[in-house]
Amino acid sequence: MADEPLVLGIETSCDETGVGIVRGHTLLADAVASSVDEHARFGGVVPEVASRAHLEAMVPTIQRALKEAGVAASDLDGVAVTAGPGLAGALLVGVSAAKAYAYALGKPLYGVNHLASHICVDQLEHGPLPEPTMALLVSGGHSSLLLAPDITADVRPLGSTIDDAAGEAFDKIARVLNLGFPGGPVIDRIAREGDPDAIAFPRGLTGPRDAAYDFSFSGLKTAVARWIEAKRAAGEEVPIADVSASFQEAVVDVLTRKAVRACKDEGVEHLMIGGGVAANSRLRAMAERRCEDAGLTLRVPRPKLCTDNGAMVAALGAEMVARGRSASAWDLSADSSLPVTDPHVPAPDADSAPHHSHSHDHVHELSRKNLYA
Ligand code: KG4
Ligand code: ZN
Repeated sequence: MADEPLVLGIETSCDETGVGIVRGHTLLADAVASSVDEHARFGGVVPEVASRAHLEAMVPTIQRALKEAGVAASDLDGVAVTAGPGLAGALLVGVSAAKAYAYALGKPLYGVNHLASHICVDQLEHGPLPEPTMALLVSGGHSSLLLAPDITADVRPLGSTIDDAAGEAFDKIARVLNLGFPGGPVIDRIAREGDPDAIAFPRGLTGPRDAAYDFSFSGLKTAVARWIEAKRAAGEEVPIADVSASFQEAVVDVLTRKAVRACKDEGVEHLMIGGGVAANSRLRAMAERRCEDAGLTLRVPRPKLCTDNGAMVAALGAEMVARGRSASAWDLSADSSLPVTDPHVPAPDADSAPHHSHSHDHVHELSRKNLYA
């Protein structure tokens, strides 16, 4: 439909410079420039390197997205950007670029939450999100169970990791096994040749008195590292495929078990899984089986939409516009620890009545107030 909001989204919270363009729930462009290769030799993302790479990639990636979508920047109904959480310096590059484009074009600016975007992206694949949706978000930076009655206004954290994120655990184990960075995709691939039951690695926080929806992967990481050390010390060969499969099984078992339990406890019928680790083939397979057994509908976007990208930001921005949520102020800042309970960052003086989303006067009102006050 032509009257659905056309929104450009910018994502720079970590090492991917993502620019996406959507019209309502339709994906028009998803341009990503990754600096992952520049971090590989450090075994993790180096914030300063990421910020510089974003700066260099920003304008070409925006131009590529506009070309791919076949739209003019002047046709946009809004510019959305990840305001947080993420690496402060990296976020700042995206926020500055979004402000510059939105201001120059006279379009409203929407600072949105990275985690809510990871959930909202599924609308581009499977249509409108059911309300409420339960979301399991698993990536290199976060592992959370979130209840989302309204992705634009009401997201409630049920639990999260108390130490490492799930993707971080994959990355660290891959490093111990000398498999390179990022570790998730390579462990996923190698695990297919291994036996998931070969080694009984611990399932963190699954005791009767443990927090039902929190996660812990640091004990598992230590257990796997010790197991590998013991093999090496004994001069034995490390069975990489079996270790990978058994480690992956422990992570995926806990994630899916807790997600299904949260759905049952909260009476929610739809589970979505997002974030980079949602690309994991074993996680997808086990979640499918367990959701089917529990009578739940499972929604997992295709892998390219699960890892960080600009389309997810555009998807949430478009939903903000469609629902008449308030635009952000021109002095929007990056917030590296933006709480998940804030799906977007409205202007502080935004009135509670939804403004007309296509009104450009509103933008100029805001700009005058904030720039010349
Ligand atoms: O969402 P994402 O692209 O960036 C963050 O916000 O962190 O997630 C990246 C993480 C990395 O830790 C990577 O190892 C993990 O997702 N990952 C995977 C797979 N693909 C990416 N983990 C397990 N299996 C995969 N297939
Ligand atoms: Zn992410």
